Amino acid sequence: MIDLRSDTCSQPTEAMRHAMATAPVGDDVYSDDPTVKRLEREVADLLGKEDAVYMVTGTMTNQVAIRAHTEPGDAVLFDQNAHVYILEGGAPAAYAGVLPRLLPGVRGIFNAGDVEAAIGVPHRFFPATIPAPVRLLCLENTHNIGGGKVWPLEQLKAVCDAGRARGVKLHLDGARLWHATAATGIAESEYARHFDTVSVCFSKGLGAPVGSALAGSREFIARARRFKQQIGGGFRQAGIIAAGALYALQNNRARLIEDHENARLLAEGIASLPGIEIDVNAVETNIVRFVVTSLPAGEFVERLYEKGLYVLPSGTDGVRAIPYLNITKAQVQEAIGIIASVAEAYAEKAGVMAGQAARGGAGY
Ligand SMILES: Cc1ncc(COP(=O)(O)O)c(C=O)c1O
Repeated sequence: MIDLRSDTCSQPTEAMRHAMATAPVGDDVYSDDPTVKRLEREVADLLGKEDAVYMVTGTMTNQVAIRAHTEPGDAVLFDQNAHVYILEGGAPAAYAGVLPRLLPGVRGIFNAGDVEAAIGVPHRFFPATIPAPVRLLCLENTHNIGGGKVWPLEQLKAVCDAGRARGVKLHLDGARLWHATAATGIAESEYARHFDTVSVCFSKGLGAPVGSALAGSREFIARARRFKQQIGGGFRQAGIIAAGALYALQNNRARLIEDHENARLLAEGIASLPGIEIDVNAVETNIVRFVVTSLPAGEFVERLYEKGLYVLPSGTDGVRAIPYLNITKAQVQEAIGIIASVAEAYAEKAGVMAGQAARGGAGY
C-alpha cells in the first residue's frame, strides 16, 4: 500500500528512533525534562521568539494560543478555510468560546482590505460595546486546504500590519512553515517576525512521531503553559518524544524539497488524465489536491485503494495526496500508474459530474 493520505503518516527512521531511545528525560510538568527544554530553546531561536512550549499536537498549540490571546466572547478573524477554524473539532467555540469572523481567502490568502473591512470603522456615534471586539487574526502558512499554498511575504506583512495597526494580536498556524521556507528560501524567522505567536508541527513533513510547539514572548508562553496544563497537556517524561521532534528539526528540514519535487512529479503525471483537473503550477510545496469529474471523489479513492494507493477524498469531488520522507520517487511513479488506470477505466464518464454539485461541496 502506498499511503499518501497525509504527511502525518510518516514513520520514524532508525536514527530518529535511536535519538528517542537514548534521550535524557525528566518530569516536564516540573520543568525538569532536559530534552523538552532543549527542543523549546531551539524552536524559539529558530523562529526568533523569546520562548516556546512543546505540546502533543498542532491542534493543541493553535487552540491554546487562541485561548491565551482572548477572552470568551471575543471575535477572532480566520480565513474561511483555516485549519484552526474548521478542522480542529470546533475548539474555538468549545474551548476558547470565541466568535469566528471569516475572511474570504482564496487558497487561504486574503488581503489587508479584507482584514480592515472585518474590523470595521469605529465612530463615536456607534457604541463600541455592540460588536464582539476583534482581538486576534490567524494566518496559515503553508495553507492545507489551499493545497500547500505559500503566503507571499509582502502580502503577509501587509495583512499583519493592518491587524496590528488596529490593536489585533497575530497568530500563525505554521504547521508546515518549514515547507514555505524550503520552497522560497525565506527563513522561518522572517515569516514569524510578523506574528505574536507561531505554532509549528514536527509530526508532519518533518517526520517526528509526535508534537508541536508554540512560540512567542516569554510572558505569553508562561500564560500558554497554564492553558496547556488546564486541558491535560502536562506530560511527564516527554523528552522521549521531544527527542524525535528535535532530531526532525535538526535533520529533516533540508530534505523537504524532495517531497516538493515528488508532489510536482505526481501532479504532472496525472494532469492530462481523463476526468482529472489539476493546476500543476498551484503545487508549490508537498500537498497535491485535484478534482475528479468522472465519479464521486469518495468512490474514486475506493478504486485507488483497491489497487494499493491510499489517498483522502476531500468534499464531493476533491482528492488530496501528500508525499513525505518515507515515500520514494518510484512509489510516486507507481501511484501515477494506479491513478491513470482508474481514471482511464472511468474515462467515458469524465465530465459528467463537472458543473453539477461537484464544485460546491466542502473539501478538506
Ligand atoms: C495547517 C494545519 N494546522 C494544524 C494542524 C493540526 O495538527 P495536529 O494534527 O497535530 O493536531 C494540521 C494537521 O493536519 C494542519 O494541517
